[in-house]
Amino acid sequence: NEIRIFSPATIANVSCGFDVLGLALDAVGDEMIIRKTSKKGITITKLTGQDLPTETLHNVAGVAGLALLAESEYMGGFEIEIYKKIKAGSGIGSSAASSAGAVWAMNALLDYPFSNLELVKFAMEGERLASGVAHADNVAPALFGGFTLVRSYHPLDIIKIPTPEALYATVIHPQIEVKTSDSRRILKTSISLEDGIKQWGNVGGLIAGLYTNDYELIGRSLVDHIVEPIRSILIPGFDKVKENALEAGALGCGISGSGPSIFALSKGEENARLVADAMKNVYQKIGVDYDVHISKIN
Ligand code: HSE
Repeated sequence: NEIRIFSPATIANVSCGFDVLGLALDAVGDEMIIRKTSKKGITITKLTGQDLPTETLHNVAGVAGLALLAESEYMGGFEIEIYKKIKAGSGIGSSAASSAGAVWAMNALLDYPFSNLELVKFAMEGERLASGVAHADNVAPALFGGFTLVRSYHPLDIIKIPTPEALYATVIHPQIEVKTSDSRRILKTSISLEDGIKQWGNVGGLIAGLYTNDYELIGRSLVDHIVEPIRSILIPGFDKVKENALEAGALGCGISGSGPSIFALSKGEENARLVADAMKNVYQKIGVDYDVHISKIN
């Protein structure tokens, strides 16, 4: 009647795939304990690590859980303890980890009545609360693991993409907070056909590279002509961090989700470490606090 889980941090967008691509990290994630109760509804009984609301309707795990309960035959409720290890506003899917973790654990406690796709739909309600938009590019990889593509939102269609054996992600987080809602507000709502052509060429290239273990192709496809030029302005030292990562051998580098975290993909763990050092150097020189971690992408 109780389950303890690790819910992973995630990188959304992955440069070319705004709101459609995402991948799960194994180095960072929230821990949660979820318990069945005879009392109806969802109660957040504990939340440590971040200063976030615990009222059910103001908590992303609370609203995601309510979305699940609304479609369930189960007559009881759940208590949730959340031990946040992912900083809010860091750009690696902090809200998604709580929403996805909550619904995944509830589904397990109810003996799996719902599919992963249905769980994504419930967890998206948490994202709607957090950012104003029910985007799925963080919750999908958190629930499916590995790399995912949101092929369509209406109807919701999620594709799990295989990843080459030696693909690693380095993520560096300059210690500032950027709210997803703010970094979405500064985006333009239309793009030129010319930019669209470049962007969907790269999305296709990245997917092809992941299927065929073509690291070079993955690298050349990690380009974002639309969002990165606008959002990178909010991130201290972005251009230099990216330049250093690529010089150190990264396949590609870009903004993780809505930032300020910056990610790089590399072939092999050793390379991912060299890339981490190269990225760190920038913040050490300009005196910005940071944390950095490396994950294998599964
Ligand atoms: N696709 C979303 C965005 C992810 O970039 O706004 C937020 O984590």
